[in-house]
Amino acid sequence: MSINSETFAPDMLKGKTAFMTGGTSGIGLGIAKALAAHGAQVAVMGRDAAKATNAAGEIGNGAMGLAADVRDYAALDGVMAQAQEQMGPFDIVIACAAGNFLAPAAALSANAFKAVVDIDLLGSFNCLRAAYGRVHKPGASMIAVLAGQATRAMPLQAHACAAKAGVAMLVKCLAMEWGPEGIRVNGLTPGPVEDTEGFQRLMPPGMEEKFRNTLPLRRAQRMDEITAGALFLCSPAASYVSGTAIECEGATGLAPFPFM
Ligand code: HXC
Repeated sequence: MSINSETFAPDMLKGKTAFMTGGTSGIGLGIAKALAAHGAQVAVMGRDAAKATNAAGEIGNGAMGLAADVRDYAALDGVMAQAQEQMGPFDIVIACAAGNFLAPAAALSANAFKAVVDIDLLGSFNCLRAAYGRVHKPGASMIAVLAGQATRAMPLQAHACAAKAGVAMLVKCLAMEWGPEGIRVNGLTPGPVEDTEGFQRLMPPGMEEKFRNTLPLRRAQRMDEITAGALFLCSPAASYVSGTAIECEGATGLAPFPFM
């Protein structure tokens, strides 16, 4: 049994609708499944149409799988309009699409830096901005998935740190501007989640054991330990939580950085 089914009522999100970017794999897909398992109808958007369709099948509960690139506002807006037409206004919007790789700043081309900033920061803005006119007011919960990079300088991560720090500040600004209409906006910071592409990509070969031994909890994160954070932010328990980042990251940010 997952911690979510023990913690949150099975019908907590019954009748609610959710739109997610980056919901077709990794942490995003995990969150989409958790929302659907608690009753929400979810639309997930990714770059790959076939992957989005497969993800929707996995998520269930009438999920929609849609394809667009978060960097393309017009395409994202069009796909969101399609989801709204079918599902109605959204209760939950989650900007989860991210791109990352390890690279030293001195070897990073301007285009490489821009690619990550465009996916992570501009993509989060595009998602939340396009959703602004399509959410229930009051009552909507908007979430941007962050990363330890938002607050912690890391070697080989200048691009991702700059992008995610921007997303963390974007969350605060939107929470302030959209709060009067009853929209809550928060960040959600995962730790290193087992069996995700992000975990594999950011792990230099042969470093896994050393990495685990530096983590305060001496293990990586289970998927249900991060999806629980998303469910909390969508639950009535978080009705006065806005403009902050919920750090479900097992004190990873306090551990010495292992890859120097
Ligand atoms: C140096 C690299 C590189 C690498 C790509 N580039 N990979 N530079 N080291 N390992 C450079 C390319 O040479 C190019 O620059 C520029 O980046 C854009 O690359 P493209 O492949 O043309 O871009 P695109 O197809 O848009 O792909 C974007 C991407 C890619 C970020 C580079 O990796 C991607 O699509 N990622 C999405 C999936 C992903 O990253 N999942 C893991 C997410 S995990 P030049 O100068 O040659 O044109 C995650 C965890 C959170 O995000 C971490 C916090 C952020």
